[in-house]
Amino acid sequence: MESKLLLALATGAAAGLAAGLALRERRAAPPDSGVPDEERLAWLQRLSTVGQMMSGVVHEVRTPLNTVILAVEHAQRVLDQGGDPREQLRSAAREADRAVEILSDILDFAKPAQLDLKPVALAPLLEGALEPLKIRFDERGVETSLDVPADLEVLASPRHLHQVVTILLMNALDALPFGGRLDLRAERAGRAVRVTLSDNGVGIEPAVLARLFQPFATGRAASGGTGLGLNVARWIMTKHGGDVSIASPGIGKGTTVALTLKAA
Ligand SMILES: Nc1ncnc2c1ncn2[C@@H]1O[C@H](COP(=O)(O)OP(=O)(O)OP(=O)(O)O)[C@@H](O)[C@H]1O
Ligand SMILES: [Mg+2]
Repeated sequence: MESKLLLALATGAAAGLAAGLALRERRAAPPDSGVPDEERLAWLQRLSTVGQMMSGVVHEVRTPLNTVILAVEHAQRVLDQGGDPREQLRSAAREADRAVEILSDILDFAKPAQLDLKPVALAPLLEGALEPLKIRFDERGVETSLDVPADLEVLASPRHLHQVVTILLMNALDALPFGGRLDLRAERAGRAVRVTLSDNGVGIEPAVLARLFQPFATGRAASGGTGLGLNVARWIMTKHGGDVSIASPGIGKGTTVALTLKAA
């Protein structure tokens, strides 16, 4: 109930902001007559980027906010049992911070979209992305494993890479409604680093694989999928000079998602 309300508030606020941004763009638009086609096209492209980016922001802010709710509910249960809820409260605070960081991306919009890449230790980053979602995997009876060399470093914007991994973990969770396994691995491949997430969940029909990175392409329309996760993930990976790909042997046969990054 509360989570629906929060979601509606976040969506409403972001939609309002999007409308505001779009309005500003419209006022700055060239008049209809006498404007070269390329200029009009560039303006239309900018407008559609604003819309797409706003949908992405709403999509991304949802996950940390829902995790805040889960962590606070968990803290309440711990308190009711006379325990110490500090760990759950810390997790709630961390995820709330993450939501704020994602929202601040909107303010960065006017600047050229360059991510600030630096050497990042991969193991703690992957652990940090898995940790807040662990409670959801546990609830579902999904076993998770993490196999990452301790000294592996990549060139990345840590919070954006965290965002990508969260998107992929949420997809794996959706693909494992009745439990199963999720294995997260990373290894050096020459000057690159390859991160893979393999689940033994519902799998994907070969015919639709290529379409999944397009915005609004969802196989979960009935359960509220917006189809933006993989699109946002690809955008972020491209900004890293890397890539994301998805493969599945077919329905019921699990899925592997691979990220390629530059080794630091
Ligand atoms: N691990 C996976 N196993 C099976 N199908 C997957 C997996 N990851 C992605 N998919 C398929 O790709 C589609 C697109 O994923 P994407 O994250 O872009 O959107 P979504 O999960 O449908 O919605 P949301 O916007 O809420 O993330 C999913 O709907 C699902 O059909
Ligand atoms: Mg998704």
